[in-house]
Amino acid sequence: MNAWNGAWESAGPGGVRIRTTTPRDHRRIVEVCDDWWGRPVAHILPRLFLDHFHTTCLVADDPHLAGFLVGFPSPSLPEEAYVHFAGVAPDHRRTGLARELYRLFVEAARTDGRTVVRAVTSPANERSIAFHRSVGFTVTGPHAGYDGPGNDRMCFTLRL
Ligand SMILES: CC(C)(COP(=O)(O)OP(=O)(O)OC[C@H]1O[C@@H](n2cnc3c(N)ncnc32)[C@H](O)[C@@H]1OP(=O)(O)O)[C@@H](O)C(=O)NCCC(=O)NCCS
Repeated sequence: MNAWNGAWESAGPGGVRIRTTTPRDHRRIVEVCDDWWGRPVAHILPRLFLDHFHTTCLVADDPHLAGFLVGFPSPSLPEEAYVHFAGVAPDHRRTGLARELYRLFVEAARTDGRTVVRAVTSPANERSIAFHRSVGFTVTGPHAGYDGPGNDRMCFTLRL
């Protein structure tokens, strides 16, 4: 059993309960993410991600939402897994919760035969860059126009 198997759960830092998501978690995430980021970001997570990828996404509950990781094994690139969106509630930050969510996702990706995990962020997101570097990702960028005109990105790569 690992985090990509339904009905899976484990204890995280501070006793939060980490489990694989269900489609119902979409609403819980979009209700809080603008506050957590301090700017509008809910558009980054259309419902399709939880409808079609909920078996490989994670949430942490305390019992309110404490953190989440939305990611999936690439259907087109068999070596790769991708983290699309991840966040931790302000009152749970620096407890190691994001590190644990990533650890569980990476472990599941490895078990699935994946050899690379990737993610991207905007060059202004210094917290995200510091976090990914801290958990072992190689950081490159800014890559000009990576996500289309005017949308530069930092790219994160973790080789398993
Ligand atoms: C980025 C984010 C997910 C980190 O979550 P977190 O649970 O606080 O991170 P962790 O406690 O697991 O931190 C692991 C390591 O990452 C680094 N790190 C995390 N937050 C950091 C920050 N604000 N500044 C510098 N380094 C940071 C540290 O090295 C930390 O280890 P340490 O606490 O032992 O020094 C969280 O700050 C967040 O949700 N931010 C807003 C949303 C966002 O930008 N998400 C981007 C996708 S990751």
